[in-house]
Amino acid sequence: MPTWVLIALVLIGGLITVKFLFAASIVTVFPITRGAMFHPSASVRVKTFLDRVSMNPGDLLVDIGCGDGRVLRGARRCYGVRALGFEVNPIAYLMARLRTFGMKGIEIRYSDFWKSALDEADVVFCYLFPDVMKRVADKLETELRPGARVVSCNFPLPGWKPLEVLHPDSSLHGDPIYLYRFPDACRSGSSERS
Ligand SMILES: C[S@@+](CC[C@H](N)C(=O)[O-])C[C@H]1O[C@@H](n2cnc3c(N)ncnc32)[C@H](O)[C@@H]1O
Repeated sequence: MPTWVLIALVLIGGLITVKFLFAASIVTVFPITRGAMFHPSASVRVKTFLDRVSMNPGDLLVDIGCGDGRVLRGARRCYGVRALGFEVNPIAYLMARLRTFGMKGIEIRYSDFWKSALDEADVVFCYLFPDVMKRVADKLETELRPGARVVSCNFPLPGWKPLEVLHPDSSLHGDPIYLYRFPDACRSGSSERS
């Protein structure tokens, strides 16, 4: 067999294996993610978030479903925040660990965010799926401390009133990014806590 055929077969086989592993990683965690599969935010969207949501050094930013950790890395570089990411997709988790290797101030947990309290977060970032947004809103209402901000990509938090809706300047990646401040954003939260 000519060498080039062998190389082509190895490359194609490798590609198919990677695709298969990627698909398997999404399917196996579906019962937890309910469809929020590993789909990283485009860089123009991360930039819009970082430009418009300023944070203080030492603030705790939590990405509930951090993918490859790009949002956490950007915020750590820009603002010196403490960055915490939860991820249940093994491939995304490994990528996040690799890409944040050696970076101080970033922690990536191979863990389901539903099982952790978010009461210490100053900013919560999420890019999830409509099916879970009501449950996310309920969790945040129960756990966030007053003054915490929430950033939700693409999908709003049902029943919450955004402080602002950003539209990244991009024809491909211009979907809305919703910004909220707790407890003003949700009426039940403000009445319970005031
Ligand atoms: C659309 S991606 C967004 C990734 C990243 N936040 C970004 O903006 O680039 C959503 C990620 O959330 C993860 N995810 C969904 N539900 C989760 C859960 N309950 N706990 C931890 N990770 C979760 C998925 O595995 C997926 O990688």
